[in-house]
Amino acid sequence: MTGRAAAGRADALVLFGATGDLAKRKLFPALYRMAERGHLGVPIIGVSRSDWTDDDFHRHVFDAVRTAFDDPDESTIRSMCEHLHLVRGDYADSNVFVDLAAALQSLGARLPVHYLAIPPGMFPTVVRSLADVGLTATSRLVVEKPFGRDLQSAESLNRLLHQHLAEEQIFRIDHYLGKESVEDLLVFRFANTLLEPLWNRNYIESVQLTMAEPMGVEGRGSFYDSVGCLRDVVQNHLLQVVALLAMEPPVGADAKHLTDEKLKVFSAMRPIEADSIVRGQYDGYLDEDGVAAGSTTETYVATRLLIESWRWSGVPFYVRAGKALPVSATEAVVKFREPPAMLFNESGPPGPAANVVRFRLGKADGVTFTLNAKQPGRDLDSEPVDIAVDFAAALGERAEAYERLLDDALDGDPRRFGRYDVVEETWRIVQPALDHRGPVHRYPRGSWGPGSAGDLVGLGSWYLPSTATEAISP
Ligand code: BG6
Repeated sequence: MTGRAAAGRADALVLFGATGDLAKRKLFPALYRMAERGHLGVPIIGVSRSDWTDDDFHRHVFDAVRTAFDDPDESTIRSMCEHLHLVRGDYADSNVFVDLAAALQSLGARLPVHYLAIPPGMFPTVVRSLADVGLTATSRLVVEKPFGRDLQSAESLNRLLHQHLAEEQIFRIDHYLGKESVEDLLVFRFANTLLEPLWNRNYIESVQLTMAEPMGVEGRGSFYDSVGCLRDVVQNHLLQVVALLAMEPPVGADAKHLTDEKLKVFSAMRPIEADSIVRGQYDGYLDEDGVAAGSTTETYVATRLLIESWRWSGVPFYVRAGKALPVSATEAVVKFREPPAMLFNESGPPGPAANVVRFRLGKADGVTFTLNAKQPGRDLDSEPVDIAVDFAAALGERAEAYERLLDDALDGDPRRFGRYDVVEETWRIVQPALDHRGPVHRYPRGSWGPGSAGDLVGLGSWYLPSTATEAISP
């Protein structure tokens, strides 16, 4: 039977995969920050296949928090641990769910959030078992990515979830939606009269999105090898960023209106065909632990996306992402059409450079406008100048993505999560590229990926992230 969405703050958090890597790196540090700000206020039940005692679990949480923060407040971690318990056992064993139900009952919890930080292959078993013991009736379910491997598996996962839960109970995580810098795209676009009238094909020539990571797949080889870059970050994180850059102004700030507008962008986006994608694999990838011999999994993708709408027709959205690249940066660069040459410029063409708005979405987030100013001297020549704002300096410290998303899930606020139809639509876009895998080009570690990625951008070239002025881009 399908559960029903209940309003209000959840009264317990159940963490499946509580002794796993994601919990250690992201979830416990986020929970600690919530506790420190006085936002947590719910008991946490970890569920894990390990045979740890509660004490082992608490030590693990201390470690996770100390690794994430330089000088954490020990008394906050201790009081968090007082409300932290572990239910042990194999997820395939129905007794685990009986134990979990008993643990929740003893806490008096009536509206728990179940967070699935476990391998996706386990989702169906866990959801069915939760339903069997009545734990989907009034609860919320947070599902970590990857949400499916392709359109078909995403649809069947949605069907399974909908057998047991109402859509309003399901919170599909894409942590990019929890980043302040990513959400700022929406505010920056629609809170500034300066931008919106120009934000269309009449004034914008192209948009580029780069997600560069210097690390390889160290420690995650076996997971990554079964996924690859397109599924790992393009189908989800980067398409979501494109939607925020491209969507029409929503008529309301609620989840339905926001999501409806994103869905329209994805519905108007052409699927990725073979001639609009370049894949790469960094040298040495095949020697990483967990990577299959002779693997052709890509660690780099560059692609050109087209949105067939009155606002965007003919404006390419170039997207590239890769591991083992020269820098850590996620940037969206919006390039405006070139202004005409200035008739009063005595030295003649070339005219002023194209204006650029650069959104820095990763570390050191902020925005930079490149405008043209008068070059010093006697002539009326122009020179590009940057007007930049650093959000941390201007706006102060902001919460991390996982902290915001955990808080949202506890509150039952779906605005920063993926709705089923949006997730399916993004799989539709990448599906041809999954079905027809083209060549995978090798690239040296620390380079900008295969040279052929440069051909995708036609007469232009990829903009280097602002942190990479020394690096060379194809
Ligand atoms: C994850 C991917 O979803 O996002 C990783 O699985 C990637 O491969 C990570 O490194 C990047 O996240 P962020 O927040 O560091 O940009």
